[in-house]
Amino acid sequence: MSPPTLEHCTPLNTPLRRRLQTVAVAWHCSSFVVFTLFNLMLWASPLGWLLAIPYLIYFFRDKSPANGAVVRRYSPWFRSWRIWTWYCHYFPISLHRSVPLEPTFTQDTNEPTGPRYIFGYHPHGIGALGAFGAIGTDGCGWSRLFPGVPVSLMTLVNQFHIPLYRDYLLALGITSVSRKNALRVLHYNQSICIVVGGARESLLTQPMDKAHRRIEIILHKRKGFIKLALETGNVALVPTFAFGETDTYSILRTEEGSWLHAVQMWLKTNIGFTIPVFYARGLFNYDFGLLPYRKPIAVVTGRPVHIPERVHAPPDDVVNHYHQRYIDELKRVYYDNRQNYGYGDVEIDIVG
Ligand SMILES: *[C@@H]1O[C@H](CO)[C@@H](O)[C@H](O)[C@H]1NC(C)=O
Repeated sequence: MSPPTLEHCTPLNTPLRRRLQTVAVAWHCSSFVVFTLFNLMLWASPLGWLLAIPYLIYFFRDKSPANGAVVRRYSPWFRSWRIWTWYCHYFPISLHRSVPLEPTFTQDTNEPTGPRYIFGYHPHGIGALGAFGAIGTDGCGWSRLFPGVPVSLMTLVNQFHIPLYRDYLLALGITSVSRKNALRVLHYNQSICIVVGGARESLLTQPMDKAHRRIEIILHKRKGFIKLALETGNVALVPTFAFGETDTYSILRTEEGSWLHAVQMWLKTNIGFTIPVFYARGLFNYDFGLLPYRKPIAVVTGRPVHIPERVHAPPDDVVNHYHQRYIDELKRVYYDNRQNYGYGDVEIDIVG
């Protein structure tokens, strides 16, 4: 083995601008751990209890992540903090729209007049990092591109079990992805974004390279969000594709017979799912770590599929009709734009 050479390390003269970008991304990738440690620290000192006990009472009584109350926590001010711009500039992440969307809230009167939106985000990638930057914060200029369309990014409920972290997420408008919660948020005229493919799709993540020129997504059986839209009415489905989301990490292909493969298979059999082994770069080196690569992510919203009227208990053929229209629009936004982002020869494949 050769000794490590200096070119694998981040140079000392890295401009401050880039350092701040790295700090922002490192913060995002470690924030849930930082919050967890902070909680432990709080409980470790009697002085901390003064804060921790009242908080805990609130924590067990407050159901904001589950009942749509995120709309009252949504803070445009927090969403536009500078750190989120740094976060977006790191990759960089950019946000584009195929067509403008009619505002839900009229700008001058702030009256709810327009439709609400359900953004479907594809593909999940390892961490949906583009969704966080472009939709979970204002770092890419969401409020300028979609004025009058407040939006909640939806994520797994476990994250809201970490004290304080939950409040941090709620302030960004991020809330838990359950049917009831989604219905409530839409009821309050706030739009939502769902990463439709979920954990199953993250397993399919594979960066583009010379040999791998395919994007695989999970969508065929994912119809819950279509039903949600039909049961809500006055809502539009907006397929959203993130070019580059799958390129932010390297994936370790585990070979059959290796211990890693055995661990993954054991997890799959016993817990029902497994996680891909991913890596990228570190804070101070470019070779190995959990910090994503600086690879551009372009988040492009497609044309809305409007559902004007509410359909109570929608029959299968109605659901399937809108599901197919959604798929058509997703493919349209993909094929109309792939040339611009280096995906010119890459096909999109709905594999499940
Ligand atoms: C949502 O907007 C509609 C008009 O589009 C309005 O009638 C309704 O009262 C609003 N809902 C809430 C909870 O503000």
